[in-house]
Amino acid sequence: MSKYIGVLTAGGDSPGLNAAIRGLGKAGEQQYDMHLIGFQDGFRGLMENRFIRLNNMYLSGILTIGGTILGTSRDKPHKMQVGDRTMDMTDVMLEVYNKHHFDALVCIGGGGTQKNAYHLYKHGMNIITLPKTIDNDIFGTDRSFGYDSALQIATDAVDRLHSTAHSHHRIIVAEIMGHNAGWLALGAGVAGGADVILIPEIPYEIESIAEAIRSRRKKGKHFSIVAIAEGALSKQDAKILKKVRSEIENASNQDERRKAKKSIVKLEKTFSNNTIELSRQLEILTGLISRVTILGHVQRGGAPSPADRLLATQLGSACAKAIQNEEYGVMIAMKNDLPTSVPLKDIVGKRKTVPLDHPLIESARMVGTNFGD
Ligand code: F6P
Repeated sequence: MSKYIGVLTAGGDSPGLNAAIRGLGKAGEQQYDMHLIGFQDGFRGLMENRFIRLNNMYLSGILTIGGTILGTSRDKPHKMQVGDRTMDMTDVMLEVYNKHHFDALVCIGGGGTQKNAYHLYKHGMNIITLPKTIDNDIFGTDRSFGYDSALQIATDAVDRLHSTAHSHHRIIVAEIMGHNAGWLALGAGVAGGADVILIPEIPYEIESIAEAIRSRRKKGKHFSIVAIAEGALSKQDAKILKKVRSEIENASNQDERRKAKKSIVKLEKTFSNNTIELSRQLEILTGLISRVTILGHVQRGGAPSPADRLLATQLGSACAKAIQNEEYGVMIAMKNDLPTSVPLKDIVGKRKTVPLDHPLIESARMVGTNFGD
């Protein structure tokens, strides 16, 4: 019997989304007689019932294309901006879901999307998810598509910054995305041979970084590349953040929790200048000129790498199979090179950060990379 499946992409875009939609749609149609309907702009499109019938015409020729043909947004079902109000639109989405007589709804996205999808699952939808993010921080999967493509772009940038830093005898501080996880900065930093790598998991001391740069100088190396994750913090800032986070956890009422959450937003705004401030401090402490390069959204753009195309195709087609087997409330993860169903209840609200004993950190330290600690 034919099956009707909805799909949406939510959160920040990343290379590999289209490859995943194609994997799901083609496998679903060719193997299991599934009909795929794609909602536009994430959960907002589901709420507004804006959709495209993803027939073969849409699914062909998208494997190599970046972004998402469906569009995306950071809207949350239970906290949706509608006009000038923030509303819980879960019931409206449930109505749309029922109207289409869906057998399942596939939500493709990062940590936030897994959480929102689980919310819909608890409200009665047959939900199944796929892990996408350049940050590689989704709990429960070894890899998420988007990461490898972004790693290539960030590594290429670090490579290119080397020759100009070397020619001008400068420090170049390259800020790399990754939200509150250091996977991308660590990967690109090690692959690009950065002299200093700063990640959120290892709070830094500016003096330690300056000393590493001065010591390179003494050895005749008059330039240095610092790869800093956007979420990296000094020891002092990390301490402040930890305190506010524990205030949220221990808040005895809604009011206290709201207050502490507001302080976090304020703090994060202050921290957004950290890279520029670090560069300024390093000039003072080393006597070298320093420049900042913020790689930004270029890391999410363009065609997916071959590894991301393979990952997204495998996970997308495995998702069609899981729907056929009526496995719901799960994310199709990649574990030990095998697509595996992981219950959403075991992963939501958790983040996969870089373990301090990660072999890549050890290797980097062994070749003389400074981590600012
Ligand atoms: O989660 C992906 C990501 O690119 C993060 O690395 C970054 O912090 C964030 O999204 C940027 O979000 P936006 O595109 O909404 O500015």
